[in-house]
Amino acid sequence: MSARTRALVRMAALAGVLLTTASTAWAKIETPSIFAPVSTPAFAIREVAFFTLGITGVIFVVVSALTAYALIRFRRRPNDDGHEPPQVYGSPQIELAWTVVPILIVVVLFLVTARYIYGIERRPQPPDALEVTIVGRQWWWEIRYPKLGIVTANELHVPVSATGRPMPTYVTLQSADVIHSFWIPQLAGKMDVIPNKTNKVWIEPQRAGTYVGQCAEYCGLQHAGMLLIVTVHSAEDFARWAAEQRAPARVDPSAAAGRDLFSSLACINCHAVRGTTADGVFGPDLTHLMSRSTIGAGVIQNTPQTLRAWVEDPASIKPGALMPAMKLSREEVDKVTAYLLTLQ
Ligand code: CUA
Repeated sequence: MSARTRALVRMAALAGVLLTTASTAWAKIETPSIFAPVSTPAFAIREVAFFTLGITGVIFVVVSALTAYALIRFRRRPNDDGHEPPQVYGSPQIELAWTVVPILIVVVLFLVTARYIYGIERRPQPPDALEVTIVGRQWWWEIRYPKLGIVTANELHVPVSATGRPMPTYVTLQSADVIHSFWIPQLAGKMDVIPNKTNKVWIEPQRAGTYVGQCAEYCGLQHAGMLLIVTVHSAEDFARWAAEQRAPARVDPSAAAGRDLFSSLACINCHAVRGTTADGVFGPDLTHLMSRSTIGAGVIQNTPQTLRAWVEDPASIKPGALMPAMKLSREEVDKVTAYLLTLQ
């Protein structure tokens, strides 16, 4: 098979995988919309949005109505005499009105927005809040739970908040390279992720489910390929997930050949697999790789076929991804993939 045919076959296989899985696994994910909030700061943001839309909506209706009136009332008629209508120069009343009224509107919008921002940002962090550090990278999200000893990528897991039992998550945002923007529309507002600066954002989801976020600041070729999937669990499910993630990597004797090969390659300079010699930090932690539903920050479902294609040549799935093709033979790709598949 020529390289071109191979590429075509691979693309067809990937398309098939996407088509068959998109309707099942991803069907549960809601459409990200600020008008469908499920978390405290997002409720407040919807209020501000409705308030702003209300005011600007009234302005739109008034301006449209006056425009329509002028167009119809003063349209050209068959018996027009062709003379200009009387021209009005200088009217302090009109000029004052169209200056003062917009200023008042802008001041009101500014004060209301500032009040909401202040209300969200000044809320102190409760001592028992879950702490997460998220590092934006080209082009994926590194996710750390410092107090729980968990490191993962691209898929944030948090507990749900119930009435009378709030379980907020406080996120510390950092960037390893360029400016990204952290945005999960249903959970909180946007927050820039800036190199050499630490920003904070908090969420308090009140309904279990899966929500998606997306980098909201152009950060390079794969800006659009920087999805963040947030799974909100019941307290018990979250505890179970955390226990599984804390465990060291599973050792499966049947994948020993792949593990040895992986350890002998440059893979371990960028990736960590806890409990092995792999301790790189440039790429995603692979200790529990197969617990994640996607590869490449949401660009494709994580399946044996897509994982193999990714190991063989990441650029075939995500052009621009910083992971190089390792130029492995077909057997080597099989072995490494077989090993990675054991990292449950
Ligand atoms: Cu990261 Cu856009």
